[in-house]
Amino acid sequence: MRDYRQPGRAVSATVQPGSPQALHLIAMSELAGKHIVLGLTGGIACYKAAELCRSLVKQGATVQVVMTEAAAQFITPVTLQALSGRPVYTSQWDAREGNNMAHINLSREADAILVAPCSADFVAKLLHGVADELLSLMCLARPIERVPLLVAPAMNREMWTHPATRRNFAQLEADGATVLGVGSGDQACGETGDGRMLEPDEITEDLIAFFQPKPLVGRRVLVSAGPTFEALDPVRGITNLSSGKMGFAIARAAREAGAQVTVVAGPVHLPTPRGVARVDVRSALQMHAACMREAEMADVFVATAAVADWRPAAAADHKIKKDGSGQPPALSFVENPDILADIAQGPRSRAGALFCVGFAAESHDLLAHAQAKRARKGVPLLVGNIGPATFGQDDNQLLLVDEAGSRELPRASKLALARQLVAQIGQRLPKKVTP
Ligand code: C5P
Repeated sequence: MRDYRQPGRAVSATVQPGSPQALHLIAMSELAGKHIVLGLTGGIACYKAAELCRSLVKQGATVQVVMTEAAAQFITPVTLQALSGRPVYTSQWDAREGNNMAHINLSREADAILVAPCSADFVAKLLHGVADELLSLMCLARPIERVPLLVAPAMNREMWTHPATRRNFAQLEADGATVLGVGSGDQACGETGDGRMLEPDEITEDLIAFFQPKPLVGRRVLVSAGPTFEALDPVRGITNLSSGKMGFAIARAAREAGAQVTVVAGPVHLPTPRGVARVDVRSALQMHAACMREAEMADVFVATAAVADWRPAAAADHKIKKDGSGQPPALSFVENPDILADIAQGPRSRAGALFCVGFAAESHDLLAHAQAKRARKGVPLLVGNIGPATFGQDDNQLLLVDEAGSRELPRASKLALARQLVAQIGQRLPKKVTP
């Protein structure tokens, strides 16, 4: 049997291991080593499947495209062959296969079968085990324990909400497949509503998440992220250089790990990770209120936000003007509440229902400062990092400090570190009692 696997994109000899370029390449290879069979069924969303194919290849996957006859009405196999770098399969009678069993050979090689777009007709076939052409035949013939099936539905809104379609997708999930959901908005037919295929980068993110371990299934995770902005007047304020990237990476990693995640974000310019609920705030007081509220339902609180220690005692209603005296205005400050300490010392944390994780951005003596901060905040786990080396960067290096001691997570992309931290959190959570 052919072996289509190829090692993940190698870091070239001219790129230093651990350097920002190397970390960037690794971050772009989230699907390295994965062989994906991408199935296309008939629907106008086939035009997006070209971009999806490209996106999977960019993330390091090898992609084998299989198309139904209906899909080939919307986009040609030539396009998908050029983008995947492999001849496309369209027929179960493909004579290129030595044993003439494309449905067996293709499904045995796959790490996952992804049907995108998945039409209403195709899901109905999957459900009943109809196998009258290559793609449905291959889905039926796949080793169900080893080769997962993911589908990205795409159809008109009436078809999507029809009881038959609802029933079919619900049953498909019950049969072990993963249904990725749909987008909402303008449809090619001119109507507006649910049923659009997700965008290629959304499907790619969902597929990457699918392959991650799931230590946080059934848990609710709250993350605070980014800086806060403390207004001096309507146009000025005090803030800091936190980009929010570490917190957003943790939110994404927690969702990948199966948690239901909310991020309370200060003013940052970052896209919300897929499937994460976001509450935008500006000041420390707003962040405090939002976190206190959300923490009531959380099992884990990770405080990555760089909250301003002080805020102006009073924000001026009008822009503060120079008065010609040459003297700057006299500003006075008051201390902000400590969100992490308030939550970590609250009744739910003390009762063991909420696990709190603090961050410490230091410039030196990381271990000593992190240990002292862990005790002061009253959290079981404190994560230290060097402030100037993390603010705004895509990579970082962490020091985990708990009651047992400390452990370094060496320099890596923030997402890679976030996944390791999430795994560590998962190990420390009390076992969930299932009723
Ligand atoms: O006291 P310090 O700011 O160094 O502590 C950092 C940790 O405490 C971080 O986890 C940060 O998110 C959290 N923090 C907070 N509210 C504050 C200050 C810090 O939640 N007002």
